[in-house]
Amino acid sequence: MLPAYIPNSMAAVFGGGRPIDGGRTLKDGRRILGDGKTYRGLFAGIACGVLLGLLQMTLLIPLSELLRISLPSFSDNGSSTLVILLSLASGSLFGDMFKSFFKRRLGMKRGASLPLVDQLDFVVGAWVFTYLAIPGWFTTYFTWNIMITVLIITPLLHLTTNIIGYIIGVKKEPW
Ligand code: CTP
Ligand code: MG
Repeated sequence: MLPAYIPNSMAAVFGGGRPIDGGRTLKDGRRILGDGKTYRGLFAGIACGVLLGLLQMTLLIPLSELLRISLPSFSDNGSSTLVILLSLASGSLFGDMFKSFFKRRLGMKRGASLPLVDQLDFVVGAWVFTYLAIPGWFTTYFTWNIMITVLIITPLLHLTTNIIGYIIGVKKEPW
């Protein structure tokens, strides 16, 4: 899940500049996505997710030996590894963007809190993208037990990192 987790935090660190919706509003008079979804955040986030995944791959063998456990590989094939990493990282930020679209339709301002949805949008986005891109890999590694575990620990992890982000000043709200 790391290549799906890190894009969110890195979008908050590197984001800013031109919003993806170009400042446009829909007929309801509200922004399509809002100023919290920027190109810089999107691309920097995806790049960081893919780079982290590649770093995990280089650490796979040394870490497996050190910890004496067998760690799963994204793939032993370079091009499917890239497909998996790109789907995890971009799915995560597209899930987040999809959520912002609905928040705006509900009349919620940028940064307004939508509990659980804010904490799980990127997980669902990453899973949907990865399932569509490479279903066989997804169903092999994301078993029900793993998915339930991820759904339980992610909101806790997300809240912790967001509080850190708020304290160091890269996030406007602690959620
Ligand atoms: N961010 C970005 N581009 C993205 C996603 C996030 O620039 N595609 C940056 C923005 O600076 C944003 C911050 O990361 O404010 C935190 O992201 P998030 O909590 O998802 O955005 P919010 O500002 O809370 O906006 P929303 O209400 O739409 O979720
Ligand atoms: Mg938010």
